Amino acid sequence: MAKYKKVRKAILPVAGLGTRFLPATKAMPKEMLTVVDKPLIQYAVEEALEAGIEEFIFITGRGKSAIENHFDKPYELADILRKKGKDAELESVLHIIPEHTRISYIRQGEPLGLGHAIWCARSVIGDEPFAVLLPDDIIHSTTLKDMVSSYEEQGKPAVMYEEVPLDRTHNYGILDIGDNKFNANGEVNINSFVEKPESEDAPSTCGIIGRYILTPRIFDFLAEKNIGAGGEIQLTDAMVSLCKEQVFRGFKLKGERFDCGDKVGFQKANLFFALKDPYIGPRLTSYIKDMQLTPKLVKTA
Ligand code: UTP
Repeated sequence: MAKYKKVRKAILPVAGLGTRFLPATKAMPKEMLTVVDKPLIQYAVEEALEAGIEEFIFITGRGKSAIENHFDKPYELADILRKKGKDAELESVLHIIPEHTRISYIRQGEPLGLGHAIWCARSVIGDEPFAVLLPDDIIHSTTLKDMVSSYEEQGKPAVMYEEVPLDRTHNYGILDIGDNKFNANGEVNINSFVEKPESEDAPSTCGIIGRYILTPRIFDFLAEKNIGAGGEIQLTDAMVSLCKEQVFRGFKLKGERFDCGDKVGFQKANLFFALKDPYIGPRLTSYIKDMQLTPKLVKTA
């Protein structure tokens, strides 16, 4: 029996503008960009379902209705596919989320920052622990599941991290672990966090990646609406305050992570999942070999 409340709910903030993918994201949400044959957002939802999440809260904004449509029941489409005997296609649209899963959508109104986006979900979360997944990060791993199980046993809020190069600390929330020791799995107690420090001010090179387990106490700190780095209300700043009351646990990513908010990371994710696909994989491999053998093809591509 778990000692602490189950982590049943997850917040997925999707109200960002996705400016790094313009013009693709002019009329389409970034979260609907396709990695092989599924939109980005579906990878995060599947990872959360694997970890035992039963209820999703999407923080949306202007122009994000395609996300709601994606998770709706496709009555007409299903009917057509059934009549045409397209069973595989039918299967792919019918079970995007299991029957018992609940989804709600909350409008952020104005993209004032990740901290503000999370704060918008306070009334739907109520008095329960919850997960946060940033769908920009595709994480091919069971580390979130470990974080959920650990919370239910020990009651410690948690973040996922990976080692980042020293000259990239200014892109991440960085863990301050003081003299705390890592266990064999790379788990560690956290003293505090520093949002996007320059390398000389970084207390470690452990950078937070977009997965968190938080307690509702975080909403009290987010309610202060302090403006942080980049002129935005930052989640990390509220976590610094929460960390003074509750020990956070850091979980090292075991597996692959693709930062799909960035064009290079997005292409890497496409390559990784395409190479795993039984139809695309061998064909793409032979195309890549041809490219390497024929440098002209690379130059003109
Ligand atoms: P990012 O800053 O990486 O996403 O926010 P963005 O703003 O969409 O991307 P660019 O930089 O303009 O290309 C990380 C996550 O937080 C969400 C985003 O949707 C993304 O999932 N977010 C960010 C919000 O929901 N609201 C905000 O006010 C800010």
